Amino acid sequence: KLPGGKNVKVELEDGIAWVTLNRPEKRNCMSPALNDEMVEVLDALEINDACQVLVLTGAGEAFSAGMDLREFFRATDGLPYVQQMRVRRSSAIWQWHQLAHFAKPTVAMVNGWCFGGAFTPLVACDLAIAAEEAQFGLSEINWGIIPGGAVTRAVVATMNLRDAMYYILTGETFDGKKAAQMGLVNEAVPKAQLRERTLALANTLKAKNPHTIRACKEAVRGSVGMPFELAFDYLAAKSTQLRFVDDENGRSQGLTQFLDEKSYRPGLGAYKRED
Ligand code: COA
Repeated sequence: KLPGGKNVKVELEDGIAWVTLNRPEKRNCMSPALNDEMVEVLDALEINDACQVLVLTGAGEAFSAGMDLREFFRATDGLPYVQQMRVRRSSAIWQWHQLAHFAKPTVAMVNGWCFGGAFTPLVACDLAIAAEEAQFGLSEINWGIIPGGAVTRAVVATMNLRDAMYYILTGETFDGKKAAQMGLVNEAVPKAQLRERTLALANTLKAKNPHTIRACKEAVRGSVGMPFELAFDYLAAKSTQLRFVDDENGRSQGLTQFLDEKSYRPGLGAYKRED
C-alpha cells in the first residue's frame, strides 16, 4: 500500500514517484497534518524500490502557497514553546532534511503559486523545473514576519545576494522565467510542456547508476562551504566509499567498455548497464 492519501497524493509510475501536495482548495499550503504526512511519505518512498526518482508538485493552481497561516501559525501561537518547536520540526524534517538527503534524485515541478515556506522544499530538491507562468514570492514581509524556517538560508544558497535581498525586502512576485534566470530553478517551460519536460528529466536521472547519482548529490551538498584541502580528502573518501557500495561496479564497467570493448564514449553518453 502506498503512503499518503489525505493531504498528499502519491503515484508510482514506471520508477517515478509523483508526490503531489494535495490541498488545492487551500492552494496546497502546508499544515501540521500535511507535514506529518509528508514525513511518512518520504520515509516510505526512500526504501521503496519502485521509486527511483521523486517528483514533488502541487495539485491545481498552486505548487504551494507556503505554510498554512491558520493551522501552522495562528493555531499554534498559544501552545507551549516546546510544542510549537515540535510542530516546526516536522516541517523542517521533510522540507529540508529528508528531501535534501533523499536517497534517490528529486525534482521539484513548480506548476503554479510558490510562496514563502515552499521555497524550502523547492531548494531541497536536487533539480527544479518551473512553468513559465508560475508565480513565486517571498511574501513574509507582506504580513510582518521574516522568511523563517530555513527559507532565508535556502534562498541565499541559491540566488545571488542582491536578488535574494530584493525579493525578501519587497515581497514582489516573479515568474518562472525570472526564477530560471536567477538560478532558483534549472529551467522554465510553458505550462503545457511542464509534465513532459519533467518526465524526460526524471527518465534521464533514472537511467544513471543509482549509487553514483546518490554519491554525486551527497558530494555536491557535502562539499559546499568546505575549504579545498578538506574537499580533496572528502571527495577521495566519497569515491572510495562509492566503489565499496556500488554493486554494479560502474567504474570498472565504464573503463572496460571504453578502453577494451570500445563500445561507447564516456564523453558522449553512459556505459551500458545490465538489465
Ligand atoms: N495559509 C492559509 N490559508 C491559505 C494560504 C496559506 N498560506 N494560502 C491560501 N490559503 C487559503 C485561503 O485562505 C482560502 O481559504 P478559504 O477558501 O477557506 O477562504 C483558499 O486557500 C484559497 O485562497 P485564495 O486567496 O482565495 O486564492 P487565490 O487563488 O485568489 O490566491 C494566493 C492565491 C496564493 C495568491 C493567496 O491565497 C495567497 O496570497 N496566499 C498566501 C501566500 C503566502 O503569502 N504564503 C507565504 C506564507 S509565509
